[in-house]
Amino acid sequence: MHAEDPITPARAEQRLCERLQLHGEPAESLLRAMRAGNAGRQAVVLSPRALQGYEPPFACEVGTAFPWLPARVRIPAAGEIPTRHADYAAGLYYVLDLSSCWEGAALSALPQEPQRSLDMCAAPGGKSMLLAAQVALHDHTANEVNAARRGILRQNAELCGLPNTRITGLRPDQWGKSGELFDLILVDAPCSGQSLLCKGMKNPGCLGASMVQGNAKRQRGILLAAVRCVAPGGHLLYTTCTYDVEENERVMAYITRRVRGFKACEIPSLTPYRTWLADFPAYRLLPHHGAGAGGFCCLLRREN
Ligand SMILES: C[S@@+](CC[C@H](N)C(=O)[O-])C[C@H]1O[C@@H](n2cnc3c(N)ncnc32)[C@H](O)[C@@H]1O
Repeated sequence: MHAEDPITPARAEQRLCERLQLHGEPAESLLRAMRAGNAGRQAVVLSPRALQGYEPPFACEVGTAFPWLPARVRIPAAGEIPTRHADYAAGLYYVLDLSSCWEGAALSALPQEPQRSLDMCAAPGGKSMLLAAQVALHDHTANEVNAARRGILRQNAELCGLPNTRITGLRPDQWGKSGELFDLILVDAPCSGQSLLCKGMKNPGCLGASMVQGNAKRQRGILLAAVRCVAPGGHLLYTTCTYDVEENERVMAYITRRVRGFKACEIPSLTPYRTWLADFPAYRLLPHHGAGAGGFCCLLRREN
């Protein structure tokens, strides 16, 4: 990263592309998307309340272009507003960005259903919904440190009928000392949120060195605690909604170097998105992929 200095927004965007080693059309496309703010794309995930055979009461895309799309996720057709329908208020589906579903698709690489799972940064609940859409929840903990956000998480979990789920509010360091072990831990980390720009949201400073480095430090701290709670043979899925290599590949490289016994796993369904900035399997979605504003995911496995 460059030291913090007063640079124009255009220069900050260019520097991001340089850090990502993006050139040509992918770089142009990222810059266009950040300026236009129209790369967001809605998706709905059918909740545990939606019984087998249920379909949402609005038109959805058929024959999706995304082979990784989890079976219980639908992409509303252009112009549809899923939140308008009574089924939404009844918790039959949950609305999120398609890039979150892309991150959740990494769960397809799990070799078996986790018996105990922890969503460490869970509010408002999107990743827990995606987990419930792909595996049966046997003993799930949805954790959120922020009390106000925890309230929203609880409402969403109840509304959508997440089964066998407890809601908690421990800090990562408290989890690290708890002695509890899980087969799967989701760390959907707080981040600089650079992809929010591509959804037309304001996020001042998100391309700057201090914001990126501050988030990377917090992410390393969360992960160092989280890895202590992964059972032998268990998995940790790390995801962010930001592009920066500092908060993604470098954080994963730091953890796998610092903590013995953790290895990044291949996610076969996401092979076309494999990052070019790491020598281990990790995956980056960018706006030009057409599946929403973008994100990053890396699945770690703890050896037995
Ligand atoms: C990206 S959001 C999670 C989104 C959620 N997983 C979903 O899919 O709906 C990150 C969450 O981490 C929480 N958070 C912020 N700082 C944290 C910290 N130091 N440790 C753990 N969680 C933190 C935030 O309150 C926020 O709810």
